[in-house]
Order: sequence, then C-alpha cells, then structure tokens
Amino acid sequence: MDTRVKHGHPLKQKTSCLILSVLEGKSTPLVKEVDLALQGLISNALRSREFSGKRRQTLLLHTGGKLLCERVLLLGLGKGKGHAGETLRQAAATAAKFLADRNIPDCAMVLPEDILPGLSVQEKARTLVEGLTLASYRFDRYLTENGSNQSQPLKNLQLLVSQKSLLAPAETGTLEAGHLCRGVILARDLVNEPGNVKSPEYLALQARELAREHGLECTVLEKQDLEKEGMGALLGVAQGSVREPRLIILQYRGGADDARPIALIGKGVVFDSGGISLKPGEKMDQMKMDMAGAAAVLGTFLATALLKIPVNLVGVIPAVENMPSGSAIRPGDILTSLSGRTIEVLNTDAEGRLILADALTYVQRFEPRVVIDLATLTGACVIALGHHATAILGNHAGLARQLIRCGEQTGEKLWQLPLWDDYAEQIKSDFADMKNTGGRPAGTITAAAFLQKFAGDFRWAHLDIAGTAWEENGCGYRPKGATGVGVRLLVDYLGQCAPQNS
Ligand code: BES
Ligand code: MN
Ligand code: ZN
Repeated sequence: MDTRVKHGHPLKQKTSCLILSVLEGKSTPLVKEVDLALQGLISNALRSREFSGKRRQTLLLHTGGKLLCERVLLLGLGKGKGHAGETLRQAAATAAKFLADRNIPDCAMVLPEDILPGLSVQEKARTLVEGLTLASYRFDRYLTENGSNQSQPLKNLQLLVSQKSLLAPAETGTLEAGHLCRGVILARDLVNEPGNVKSPEYLALQARELAREHGLECTVLEKQDLEKEGMGALLGVAQGSVREPRLIILQYRGGADDARPIALIGKGVVFDSGGISLKPGEKMDQMKMDMAGAAAVLGTFLATALLKIPVNLVGVIPAVENMPSGSAIRPGDILTSLSGRTIEVLNTDAEGRLILADALTYVQRFEPRVVIDLATLTGACVIALGHHATAILGNHAGLARQLIRCGEQTGEKLWQLPLWDDYAEQIKSDFADMKNTGGRPAGTITAAAFLQKFAGDFRWAHLDIAGTAWEENGCGYRPKGATGVGVRLLVDYLGQCAPQNS
C-alpha cells in the first residue's frame, strides 16, 4: 500500500472514495459541510437510522457528480469509549475490508482532527495506517490458481490533514506505522509458512538475513555447539527430528554502550506433533504456528531497528522440531538442562518449556535488565482466555503492569495469572529435580512455574500466546491465520523504557 499525507480540504479531493469517520450521535462541522454538498444525503441516513455511527458501521454514498470524489464512505467509530487508538485501528480495518470487497483500490481518508482529543495527530495517523496495512495483509505466495478470487487489497491511500502544520506529525505517524507493520508482517509470514518449508535451519537463515540487512549481530549455534554448551533439554526435544536444532542469538545495539540489554526469548518449535505423546490429528496442521514466539522476536527486532529505538536488545530463539521417531525422547526420560538441573519428561508434548528452560539459562550471560519470553506454550491458556488475550505471568509486578498497559495501547490485550509458590508443588518429581508437566489443573500456571525455575533472579515476564497467535476466522485487522501478536506490544514497551537504563 502506497500512503501519502496531504493537506487540503476534503471536498476538493479527486478520489474514488473519501472516507469520513463519525462518532455515534455527534456530528461535526465537516460532516455537516459534506452533507450540505450532498444535498442532505447524510442527514437523511442519520434520520432514518440507516447509519448512526455505531462501531464498525459503514455507509457508502455515491456522489453522482455533486462532489469531486466519486464516493463518500462514512465510518462509524461508536461513542468513542475505550482506547481511542484501538478504535481507529478497528475502524481503519473496517474501511480496508469494505473497499477491498468492492475492489476500490484507492481512497482519501480524512484524519479525524476534531474528535478523539486524547490522541495526537501523529498517533491518529499511526493507528489508522496500522489498521489499514494490517487488514490488507495476505499470505498468498502459494496461490497459483484462485488468487483472482481473493479481494484486492487497497493500493493507494491519501491521508488528509486540514493544515500544512499537521503534515509533519501525520507523516511521522505514517512512517512509524510502516516500520511497525513490517515487523508484524515478517512475523505473520514466518508463522503462516508451512512446516515443510520452515526448518530450524530456515529460521536461522531468516535471522541471519535480517541481521545482515539491518546491522544486527547474529550468532547461530548448531547441534555440536549445543552439545558442547550442555543444552540437554533443548537437544532432548530436537532428537526425534531429522532436522537439526539451532539456537539463534540476535543483538541490536541502539542504546548506550554500557546499558544492560532487554532480553527477548521466543519459542521456536517449527512443528509440534507432540512427539511420542502424539497429538490428535484434528487441527494438528495448526501446530506449524508453534514458533510464533520466535516470529514475534524476529519481527520486533526488525521494527526496532527500522524505528531506531535507543535501547539494547538481545534475542534468543531455540529452534527445534518436535517429532516422534525411533530416536525421539520417551515419556519417563530424564534430561539434564544447561542449568545443571534435571527434568523428568512425563509428556513429550510439553516440549516448549524444555527448550525455553535452556534459553532462559543461556540468556543470563548477557546480564539483561529484563527478560521477556513469548511462547505458544499451553492449550490450557486457550481454555482460560480464549483467543482474545495473551496470558502474562512473571516474577516482577512492575514489569507485568507496564506490559499490561502496553497491551491496552496496542490492542494486544494481556491478562495476568497468578504465579504463587503453591503451584510449584505440582511439578515436583520423584526421580529428577522437576517434571515437565503439572497435570490438568492450572496448566498455564504450572508451565510458567516450570520456567520460573530457570529465570533466576532476573526481572522476568512470560507471555503465553497460544490463544492469540492464530486467528481462525479473521477479525478486523487480523486476517485469517497468523496474527503477528507480540510485535506491536513489545515495540511499544521498548519505546517506553528506552530512555532509562537501570
Ligand atoms: N504448542 C503446544 C500448546 C498449544 C496448544 C499452542 C494449542 C497453541 C494451540 C504445547 O507444546 C503443548 O502441546 N502443550 C501441552 C502441554 C501438556 C502436555 C502439559 C498442552 O497444552 O496440551
Ligand atoms: Mn507440545
Ligand atoms: Zn508446542
């Protein structure tokens, strides 16, 4: 999508479609002016309640030569309650779908200056472009025949501001959205990519490429290196697959030389069959998304580098495939983790926490000031929160609070679950230091309790994205498939904590 910011009067624009945002029950001078030019078409629609400005409501008016634009699209924002940025993202997504379904390839959107006073012009531009860009995303690289059946996404967007002085902030917001969305789209692409294409080696190549293009440092540990390090938990998961594991380490230095980095860890199971504790067949195809944590980390690095956020970052991605085979780990096997602690593997399908354990231990050598891991870790999380929120757990209340606030800003909602010591009882083992499952009760929490044992004394937060990484039906700016969850949340967080370096 080509986006251009322009200043000028909405009624003087020659475009296929002029988009106006409308709050429910609140007309503005601009709406009245357009109404007048359309000889009362809008007030008629309002009076007959055909359009009232409710959230997600649309009204398309053909101007029939009365205006320079061919059509006017009214876009309902609701009453303006809730988070204003998310309101605009959702509204922009509604517009994108509306236009795509009707094959209207270009539009001029009026930046709503006289409503939603809580947001700056820059934020309005950013959230609108975010919504439009993310809603226009398609993963169509493998469609050779029915590609033409798909609706055509928006090609040209003009963002209209009323005054010259607003061009600069609107342009900044537009640029920011572009950088941010490139990160989200990278994450979505990687998650949508099928398992036959994305081996651990493939993920490592993607990381290398990313590093080369954007001046990051990238180190990749291969199987022999992992053996030398003693990463027995990660290697245990990997041993059933013919595709060898990798540990991918990325570093971005945007902060002061001596500033301790923020560490991001992403679960990178390129396909999770369950291993010997094989998963049922239904929807097993979705387990190609089990590297969504890794994808979020890569996407966050891309966006952070493009936005030049002044922060130091280290990313660690344990990349493996979880397969059943003659060489796979068995239930009952005991692994020795990088930390030296032993783990009894009661269920080979609880593999994520095993590879994350070694990654958490590994990352401590960077002395991070904060550690955040993202993982499609438990089915129990989907049962608890469904697909609307990511679970957050951790050992630092302030960090959790800050991330939750970022979730509100970005629309990537987080909900905290408790991590009381009581839960650690469930992962005590008779034969090893711990076991990798805690039974059915509180599955998301016992998984986090397991991770906590490897987080050391570092400030740590764990995000279980099992329910939010994949969108089954498509909703708003999250089309069917991978959502790229985590990228916008983390970039928002990094932007906020950038100036300090405690
Ligand atoms: N990758 C799965 C969790 C998952 C489930 C992600 C559904 C996305 C959607 C994870 O490796 C897993 O299999 N977890 C098990 C743990 C259990 C065996 C303790 C689960 O949740 O069933
Ligand atoms: Mn599993
Ligand atoms: Zn898994």
